Amino acid sequence: MRETIDLPIGVFDSGFGGLTVLSSLVEQMPNEDFVYLGDTARAPYGPLSIAEVRANALEGLDHLVSFRVKALVIACNSASSAVLRDARERYDVPITEVVLPAASRAVAATRNARVGVIATESTINSRSYEDAFAIAPRITLTTQACPRFVEFVERGVTGGDELLAVAEEYLESMKKAQVDTLILGCTHYPLLSGVIGYVLGNSVTLVSSAETCASSTYAQLTQANLLRHQPREATHTFLTTGDAGNFHGIGRRLLGGLVTNATTVDIQKEKDNVPAGHV
Ligand code: DGL
Repeated sequence: MRETIDLPIGVFDSGFGGLTVLSSLVEQMPNEDFVYLGDTARAPYGPLSIAEVRANALEGLDHLVSFRVKALVIACNSASSAVLRDARERYDVPITEVVLPAASRAVAATRNARVGVIATESTINSRSYEDAFAIAPRITLTTQACPRFVEFVERGVTGGDELLAVAEEYLESMKKAQVDTLILGCTHYPLLSGVIGYVLGNSVTLVSSAETCASSTYAQLTQANLLRHQPREATHTFLTTGDAGNFHGIGRRLLGGLVTNATTVDIQKEKDNVPAGHV
């Protein structure tokens, strides 16, 4: 039986965006093994109802837990917004998510107490960031759904006139509200920090929920004495509910060499645990 510290960390996302979180996790914890599950067959989660996101995400997290993991990372803002409380009660491993760490970094970063959040429709509708900021009543929060951003990133488009025009439109409310700190409250958005920073200018601090989630995971594992210390060749396993070749291709395009393999799994039949495809 493997010691708990030797087990991998499970990372869940609706699809590809969580790879930005994984990239930060690997940067901060290079000796850890990771199993990443992207529910690409049912993505994007952004336009789904909270109940649908919740049901899908719990199925995905259950699947990861069936592998024996020492910790779970909900690397998706929409899923974090929908399941955080349930997940903490349902699993007996440390769980990190993307909403609370980003909120707490933004509270520390803002100088004028005006913070913005951009995210998918399901995250904005869940009001999860309003809940997260309830402990900081001095902060004025402005939120904005940016549904088209995900589509640009998945097409590999991170610049150009069309994206710039869409970004100007989405970020207008942030300019009006004079936010000095903006949470990139969707896993895809760190890949658009170029255009977002260009539109808002240097005086606005961008908080990446990917990076803050990785720091929070590091802290939790350290406190639980579950962090590997010895340098080693770590493994990264990629599972998708969609087409493995497609996951591999888009994953490599978005985050280069990080995605080295992909296996299709049917998480609705996870008890059978039979991979349906492999690259
Ligand atoms: N991962 C999702 C999030 O962070 C973005 C992609 C989707 O809509 O599924 O909200």
